[in-house]
Amino acid sequence: MDKFIIEGGTPLKGTIAISGSKNAALPIMAGALLGDSETTITNIPRLQDIYTFNNVIRVVGARVDFDDQNNKMVIDPTHVSHLEAPYDLVRKMRASFYMLGALVGKHKYAKVSLPGGCAWGPRPVDLHLKGMEAMGIDVELDGGYVIAKADDTLPPASYELSPSSVGATVNLLLASVLRSEEFTLKNAAKEPDVVQLCEALVQMGADISGIGTDTLVVRKVDSLKGIQIHNDPDRIELGTFMIAGAMKPGNELELTGCDPEQLGNFPELLRETGASVSIEGDVITLKAPDVLKPVSITTDIYPGFPTDLQAQWATMLTQAEGSSSVTDTVYYDRFSYVPELSRLGAKMHVDKNTVHISGKTMLTGASVMSTDLRASVSLVMAAMVAEKTTEVLRIYHLDRGYESLEDKLNGVGAKIKRADDQ
Ligand code: EPZ
Repeated sequence: MDKFIIEGGTPLKGTIAISGSKNAALPIMAGALLGDSETTITNIPRLQDIYTFNNVIRVVGARVDFDDQNNKMVIDPTHVSHLEAPYDLVRKMRASFYMLGALVGKHKYAKVSLPGGCAWGPRPVDLHLKGMEAMGIDVELDGGYVIAKADDTLPPASYELSPSSVGATVNLLLASVLRSEEFTLKNAAKEPDVVQLCEALVQMGADISGIGTDTLVVRKVDSLKGIQIHNDPDRIELGTFMIAGAMKPGNELELTGCDPEQLGNFPELLRETGASVSIEGDVITLKAPDVLKPVSITTDIYPGFPTDLQAQWATMLTQAEGSSSVTDTVYYDRFSYVPELSRLGAKMHVDKNTVHISGKTMLTGASVMSTDLRASVSLVMAAMVAEKTTEVLRIYHLDRGYESLEDKLNGVGAKIKRADDQ
């Protein structure tokens, strides 16, 4: 397995291009299976999760051509025949569960493995299944698989998500657009990833109203056609680099290819730390403050502070002058990075779903273990400000969600080497 060897202490100065969004790409890849012709998606990032999902889509019989040097993907759904997604693939990546909505939505039958948990605990799919049952889909569990069956036309129905869920919203949209006379989804997720999926489905011919709000109304159409679509830039990668830029005095990053609209009030929060954040079109320039102020945050569903930036923000707060806290109200146990940061000298402790941080602490290199995607990138961010050398182990977690991470960071002055950790 690969590891990173990181020499800390050098300031980050320069330009980084933001890649296409992983979490926005996966739903529209699943959505392409609803079409009667091929779909072309550009700005797809070269990430392990994308390759994994390609394999899941190929297993059902679709053709997927991924020109990964040009981030361009063509999905031809016209020969889908095997309406199953197997455990050994679904367990590798939770978003493979979107195959349930895509297959039952298009072909009225699906047999899809329940996804596994993940490093920070169980991640249920009860809302996906209850929403489908409410829609009139027959859902049964058999040996770790979900078997879903739908009639050609499902009667008018509605369902309210509690709590709001990105994945359940995606799956219920995929299941309903070709099937449900009128399906009303309340407390739907409003993340940009969901908005992009709705816009893609409408471009394919779907009838969806309420896009961008927490109440979506879907009305059945008879068919959908393939489209050409340009995937959104990755707002979580962008937020990650903005936070990394704020962590060390002297850092100055220019981030290009951004969609600042998708950041909500995140830029304002970052300015409260003393960082300077200027936004010109699709370019965000960030300058670190000489003294980082402690700004406590609580995560929330969109447009609140994203849980996917929770670990990165807490890591930055180890460099703030004073005490602060980070509370996650979306995932109550997403703190596996805390013991690893403590090995570098951070002073943090977790109490229920809040991590309390005292800063500013000098971090010193050590060997640390990646546990999940966002925890891993936080360890890299800490290593870049730590004294001496840090080894970040099991960086396959990073390869799932950050395209060319070490190239991008080394391009602005970091000293990161990839090595085999044997
Ligand atoms: C998506 O996961 C993202 N993944 C996650 O990003 C992100 O953290 C999450 O949304 C929240 O924004 C992708 O888009 C591929 P949820 P998802 O369903 O859809 C509970 C990353 O780092 N819940 O919105 O699985 C759940 O336990 C990944 O890129 C149920 O109770 O998240 C959580 O507390 C990690 N029952 C809350 O809802 C359900 O059936 C939000 O989860 C489904 C969810």
